[in-house]
Formats: sequence, structure tokens, C-alpha cells
Amino acid sequence: WPPHSAVKFSAKLMVQVMARRVKATILYATETGKSRTYAWNLGELFRRAFDPKVLCMDEYDIVSLEHETLVLVVTSTFGNGDPPESGESFAKALMEMSCPYVSSTQPEQQKSYKIRFNSVSQSDGLVASWKKKRKQSSNTDSAGALGTLRFSVFGLGSRAYPHFCAFAHAVDTRLEELGGERILAMGEGDELCAQEEAFRTWAKHVFQAACDTFCVGDDAEEAAREIFTTRQSWKRQKYQLSVRDNPLDTLTGLSHVHKRRVFPCRVLSVQNLQSKESSRATILVRLDTAGQPELQYLPGDHVGIFPANRPELVQELLERVEDPPPDEEPVAVEFLETATSGESPKASWVPLSRLPPCTLRQALTFFLDITTPPSPQLLQLLATLAEDGAEREQLQRLSQDARQYEEWKWFQCPTLGQVLEQFPSLALPASLLLTQLPLLQPRYYSVSSAPSAHPGQIHLTVAVLAYHSQDGQGPLHFGVCSTWLAQLQEGDTVPAFIRGAPSFRLPQDPSVPCILVGPGTGIAPFRGFWQQRLHDMETEGLRVGEMTLVFGCRCARLDHLYQQEALEAQQKGALSRVLTAFSRDPDVPKAYVQDILRTQLVGDVYQVLCQRGGHLYVCGDVTMATGVLQTVQQILAQEGGMTLAEAGDLISELR
Ligand code: 2AM
Repeated sequence: WPPHSAVKFSAKLMVQVMARRVKATILYATETGKSRTYAWNLGELFRRAFDPKVLCMDEYDIVSLEHETLVLVVTSTFGNGDPPESGESFAKALMEMSCPYVSSTQPEQQKSYKIRFNSVSQSDGLVASWKKKRKQSSNTDSAGALGTLRFSVFGLGSRAYPHFCAFAHAVDTRLEELGGERILAMGEGDELCAQEEAFRTWAKHVFQAACDTFCVGDDAEEAAREIFTTRQSWKRQKYQLSVRDNPLDTLTGLSHVHKRRVFPCRVLSVQNLQSKESSRATILVRLDTAGQPELQYLPGDHVGIFPANRPELVQELLERVEDPPPDEEPVAVEFLETATSGESPKASWVPLSRLPPCTLRQALTFFLDITTPPSPQLLQLLATLAEDGAEREQLQRLSQDARQYEEWKWFQCPTLGQVLEQFPSLALPASLLLTQLPLLQPRYYSVSSAPSAHPGQIHLTVAVLAYHSQDGQGPLHFGVCSTWLAQLQEGDTVPAFIRGAPSFRLPQDPSVPCILVGPGTGIAPFRGFWQQRLHDMETEGLRVGEMTLVFGCRCARLDHLYQQEALEAQQKGALSRVLTAFSRDPDVPKAYVQDILRTQLVGDVYQVLCQRGGHLYVCGDVTMATGVLQTVQQILAQEGGMTLAEAGDLISELR
């Protein structure tokens, strides 16, 4: 509406104005909450000229898509290019949505094609049938169920991983296939470099594109500045703390905060798997899950663990809070909300439900992320609180200059406490910490046991992380969860939940051959695999197929994880071969796991994948996985008479 309008905005008039506005649906799927925050910000921007609704994908009924005018999607990508958990059902429904204009006389062309190993016995058969299907599918015609839809997508991800923003790209492509019209090319935000900046730029442009498309007049530049720069989401006078006498226990609190059920596990033992001479530690954590049916799992599944921040980091922050509530007092944050009833605005304090009532120390220990470097948005907020002018300016520059921010983050990787050390004139209101810090996220680990071998237990194999930030000057940084797990004692409680990994399971038929590639802690899920096969053989009397383990570590003497256990599994026949690459062992030439594939397993890799319907698994560091995949690609090309590009496509299919 015109900014200088003399019209008074009653609730009724507001409804009328909104009713005439173009509706915009903003859908997000999130793993850590960042996409949700971005989607909400986008909602604020669009509220200036549209009638936006911000929804998580798992709350959205796909049937509504046909009636939408404008849809904006903000989503991250998980694992191997998969949707985040909250986007899974939407992804499935979107991919299955039919295109009504495709002729029903071409049913083959509507189906996605999949290679079925079991029906192909010859390598030539597999490669040839795959090439044929590929050719057919490239003719596929699909046209619009969503003829009236305008859309744009923003993807969040990290370029450190293959399949950067893959899920966002899949949604973007699919919406177009279904007939939607893209109003702006997909935006991408790389977690490693200026993600927030990329989002703000895309948001500004998509707002402009939407205004142009629907002939709505607004100044996108000005609107974006107002939402992203001038207006802060936190204002001192809008927040207050109130004392509560009904605190939740940590587990119930975590379930409430993360909107998922979290279960207690009792620590049975924590054991260092590396030799005492090693300067590093990898631990086997055994957890008791007896009596918790929700923690049942299959080998290959993930377990999410909620850690606690180190007490000294929490203490350091508490000392810089300007208005700390008494230590033992549970508090809740209240927000001053102004509602318009009739003609007169009325202000009232409303409790915020982001965190459950808890003490500030509990919030900083269990619920809030105090170690990830603060975002530019938070720095911008901090700038307004710095009493010293030079510090204020420096904070402002850091928050606005994306390049400077990224450099600072990369070289110093500062925790919030370290930022406070750098800017001594900052004193933080408690309500700012409680409302503006990101949530402490669960850490995911591959379960490292089989339930059949260890009923009522979950085992984890965890590298204990400690590193100096890039300039090597700063203090040591500690991995939040691994450091916390490493100091646990028998009987302590670990909050956990299971996240299924349906694409990382053993074949249903135990006679199918497998190659397992897992250097370092990448061996974790494979311990569960061989334990399962041992059980299948010994207890179930099943005939099990070949299982080859390819493990890599630095030095046989120092970090050869589960050497004895793998040897025993081999002696009993669950593992057919155990091959090892040592990268820093003075007694043998340096080798990586992909060297083993190249020198000892060429025929096996080809036969297992292309002739015997087998599985190849890779687990561990992303650089290693990329190297392994390149080697597999070379092997398939060489052995299958394909070009490298064809072998790459075949791998994507197999994946
Ligand atoms: P390095 O650290 O000596 O280079 C488990 O971490 C093992 O994986 C180590 O032996 C490590 O070797 C090795 N590794 C590191 N980078 C790798 C890569 N790109 N490909 C395969 N293995 C790698």
C-alpha cells in the first residue's frame, strides 16, 4: 500500500488489502534450521507486497501445488544429494506427480528407469541395456500439470561435498518439467563461502522478479535493505526474561526444541582404539539402549547424538552476560507483541517457545550453539551493542564485507567466546543469547554394530577431533560431540535418536557379494555389516556371499582400527578378504584405499558391480570418497568398454 496513505489500518481493512494481494507459498526443508530461517526472512520480504505463507515441506499437501500462483523453495541437501528428512515426503510426491499432457500411449517414457541387477546376468547385457534405456529416456517428453505456477528455488549446501545443492536442483528441474515457469534462475548458497550474501542477493532479485511478473510496484533494493540490513530481528526493549518454576529435564527439552523424540542411552564404556603411542584418539563408545524400542536400527543406519558444550566455554560466556539471571533460576523469554484490536494497538508480553524454561547455563550447555563462528547477521547485531566506536565499526565491516567475513571465519574459526575476547567492549543481554544463537545441532554417526550381535546396544566409532584454525596461531579447537563423548563415564546419559539410512543397507539377500571401502572411522558401519553376516552364517545358518573389506589408516602399529576383530571375522568366513593401505607407515610404501582397488581389485570391482549384482559401499572423508569413485569409474570404463563419461553415468544410476 502507498506509504503516505492517510488511510488508518483497521484489522478489517488489512484483511481486504491482503485478500487482493497475490499469494506466495514459501516452502522450506531443513536439516539444521538454516533454510527455515532463510525462508522466514524471505517471508518478511514478500510480506511487503504479497500475501506469503511460509511452510515446511512436510506440512505441505502436494495437491495444492496445482492451484498455486507463486512458489518459492528454500532447501538444503543431505548426504548423497538427498532431501533433508523434512523434505522426504514432498520430494517423493513431487517426483511421482504425473504430467497430464504426456500421451498415455507412451507409458514407458513416463517411468523412471532403473537397472535391475538380478535380471541381468551378462556384463554386456547390463551395459547394453543401460545404454538403451538411457537413449529412450532422453526422448522423454513431459509437460505441464502446473501451467499457472511461477517459481524459483534457492539451494543451500557445501561445495566440500559432491552433489552440491542436488536436492534443490532436482526440485527446480521438476517444477519446470511439470509446467511451472521459473521467474529467476536457481540461487545457490555455499556454506563455505558467503552463503548469507548469496541468499540476500537471490532474495532481492526474486522479489524484484515477482513484482515484475505480477505487476506489483515495490522497490526491491529498498525492501531488501530494510529487511536484511536496517531492521534487526532483536531489539533490547522487545524482549524480557520471566522466571519459571516448571523447568523441563534436558531430554524432554531437546525433544521439544528439535520437535523429535530423543531417548536416553546409558554409557557402558568408552575405549580408545588407537595405540597409546598415537597422538590421536579414536573411541569406541558402547551405549545401552535396552528398553527403548524406538532406538532399534539396522546395520548402516545413523544415530543422532545431542552433545553438551564444554563447561569452560559456557562459563566464559556467562561472565560476559550483562544481566544474568540467578544461576539456579529457570527462565523463559517473553516478546512484546503489538496486536491491533479494533482501532487501537495493544501491546502484551507473549512467551517465546523456542527454548523450554531452563537456566541460562542449561541453555548454553545443551540447547545453543556457542562454538560455530557467529553469522554476519549476528555480528551486525553485536555491532549495535559494542560500546567502543572502533570495535563497533570493525564488527559492522565484518558483517557487511563478505570477503573479509569469510577470511576471518576461515583463519580464526572463532567461537562466540573468542569473538567476545576480540571485542572487549561487548556485553551481551541474556535475551539476545537465548533468542539469537543458533540451536546446538545433533551430530550423526554411522552405527558401528549389528543389533543381532549386540542386542540392546548401539556402538559408535568416533575420531576425537582437536585442531588449530587455519592460521595455526589460535587456541586449539575441539570437536563438540567427540570431545564430549570422549570424557563420558560408565553410567552417564547420552541423548540419542535413530535416523534410518535406507540407501546404505546390506543387500536383503545375504549371498550378494559386497566390497566395503572405509578408511579411518569410515570403517564404522562396516563393523556392523560383518557382524551381521557373521550372525547370518553362525546363527541363521545362511550361505553368505563374498565380503571384501578395504581399510586404510596411517600406520599399522598406531591406528589400525578393529584389526583383531576383522581378522576373526575373516577366519570365520564372514569377511572373505581384508586389504589394508597404510599412508604413513615407515615399513611400507605409502598407499591409499583407491590404490588397493586399482592394483588388487580391478576384476572384482567390475564383476561385483556389473556381472554379479553386488554392492560397493564407500564410507568416510569426502575427498577420499571422490578419489575412490574416480577409480571405480576408470575401472568400469576400462573393463566395460565404455567412455569415462558413460561409466560416470552408469555409476550415478547404480548409486
Ligand atoms: P593421510 O592422512 O596419511 O594422508 C584414514 O584417515 C586414512 O585415509 C589415512 O591413512 C589418510 O592418509 C587417508 N587419506 C587421506 N586423504 C585421502 C584421500 N584423498 N584418499 C584416500 N585416502 C586418504
